[in-house]
Order: sequence, then structure tokens, then C-alpha cells
Amino acid sequence: AAACSSDKESSSSGDGEKSSSSDKPVIIKFSHVTAIDSVKGKAADRFAELVAEKTDGKAKVEVYPSSQLYGDADELDALVSGNVHMIAPSVTKMVKLDPRWQYVDMPFLFEDQDHARKFFESDVAQTILNSDQLANNDIMGLEFWENGFKHFSDNKHPLKTPEDFKGLKFRAQAGKVLESQFNALNAGSATISFGETYAALQQGTVDGQENTFNNFDTQKYQEVQKYLTTSEHGRLDYAIFVNKSFWEGMPEDIRTQVEEALKEATELEWQLAADENEASFENIKNSGKVEVTELTPEERQKFVDALQPVYDEFSDDITPELLEGIRSLK
Ligand code: LMR
Repeated sequence: AAACSSDKESSSSGDGEKSSSSDKPVIIKFSHVTAIDSVKGKAADRFAELVAEKTDGKAKVEVYPSSQLYGDADELDALVSGNVHMIAPSVTKMVKLDPRWQYVDMPFLFEDQDHARKFFESDVAQTILNSDQLANNDIMGLEFWENGFKHFSDNKHPLKTPEDFKGLKFRAQAGKVLESQFNALNAGSATISFGETYAALQQGTVDGQENTFNNFDTQKYQEVQKYLTTSEHGRLDYAIFVNKSFWEGMPEDIRTQVEEALKEATELEWQLAADENEASFENIKNSGKVEVTELTPEERQKFVDALQPVYDEFSDDITPELLEGIRSLK
């Protein structure tokens, strides 16, 4: 089990007594993969400030952005082993521990942003956040953080119909659901970590990708992608996961204050997700480098139909309870 840093560093008696009066702060290492100026990057930094204020410096959040400490491939392992204490991955990357997290990729499952937020606050979301699969790996989920809807982009031609995907290759985040999504469009896909995606697009290892406006903009994909379709076909959202032994080993008064800081940072994060994605969409349009295609309802319906096979293949894995639970929140 991971030990709480403050215990390790400040307990001279070695009896592991938890005290909040030691002068060395509890260090909470928080690793993430996006840019400092992304939705997640800004919210993580604000969380760190709030923790410093609320605990009066007794806890300190060290934020490691841009995959600088751990990338997609290893941040979850680092959390399980206690080398970092907090991560906020795009939830589909939790597929390694529990396939249900791929709910987020099920095509056109969420109607709008409000629907996603209702889900974050629902009982059905709590069941997946507090699952045995996580607890068995010494992890706890605390809060959902939002990013937004994903949009397809590529470098070859505008993506207006499902047929336009034929023969193209796309970068995917993780998991079989995304692979199946691209298969259903007769396209190929490759799982590439976020930190390596810009280079893969630049070098033509893949032709396209799918992401939120804000990730697209803060990773400067304008420089390496020519066409973007506002498809809103799937979501990209986060959850805050912590190392359970570490979290439970924190002095209780400090943990309560840190949890308050997280609640406040979460509210701010949701607001940032909306505002920053809107601003990034303007940046993308104004860059003059990306041709944006907006779909009519009829054109969108063609994608809904073309992606139906993903449900045939994965509804059992995601579980009918979770899918129906999400649908019932519309
Ligand atoms: C991606 O890999 O595209 C995203 O999950 C990155 C992120 O954390 O937003």
C-alpha cells in the first residue's frame, strides 16, 4: 500500500501517527497529459491553489501536466503503485480495469452537455466511480470532470458522410469500442498516446483523430489537420481517481479540506469546459487553416445509423444497466 508522504517524511517516532500539525506538508502528486492551458490543466492548477488556501499550506498539490511525468500508457500504473496520488484521465482509458468506462465512447449516447452533467451527478455514475474493480486496485474515483463532445478531423478530405471515412486511418485513445467505431466506418485506427498524437498526425502515421475543440486547439492540431466535422459523436470526459491507501492515510482534517477544494475545483472545471471549448472552436475557425464542416440533422442521422453496429457488439460489455441508466437521464 502506498504510504502518505507526510507520514514518511515527518514521522520521526516511526509510529505512523497521523498528525496535521507536522510542518512538512502532505504532498499530493497529480499527473495529467494535457497542456497547462487546457480545460484540465487550468482546473488542476486551480485545485492546487484551493488546496493551499484551504489547508493553510498543510497540503500541497504538485501538478505534472503534459505527460511530463507519466503519459497515457503508465499513469494508471503509477497511481496503482502510489507513485502518483491523483490522476484525471479521459475515462475511456480506464478500460484496462473495467470495460464499462467505454460508455463514454458509445456513439451518440449523450444528447447534450446537460445530459452529460446529469449523468455525472447520478447514482448510476456513482456505481461505476465506486466499483470493486477500482477498489481491488487500490483506487477510488472522486469526481467527474468534463471536457465535451468529440469531433472528427483529418488531413485528406472533408468528412461529411460515413463513406468519406473509407480507407483513412485514425488515432484512437484506447479500447475496443473506438476500434469498432472506426471499423463501422470502414476506417482503420491505432491506439496512440495523447503525447504522441501530434507527431503521428504530422508524420502521417494516421490521417485523422477525434477530440474536443479544446484539446484540438491547445495541442495545435490546426497545424496538422485540414478538415474538421462538428460531429459530436462521442464524449471525452474525465474522472478524478486517487490512490485509496494514500487518500485514506491522509490526516482526516486535511483530507476534508482537500475534498472541499476538489468540490470547488470541480464546479469551476465544468464551467471551464463549456467556456474553453467555445473559445477554442472560435480559434479553430479563425485560424484559417481548418475547413469546418457542420452536419445537418439528416447527415448526422447517417452517422447514427452507420455506427449502430457498435451497440450490437458492445452493449453487453458496457452493460444494459449502465446504458439504460444513462438514457433515462435525457
Ligand atoms: C486524448 O487522449 O485525446 C485525451 O484523453 C487527452 C485528455 O486527457 O484530454
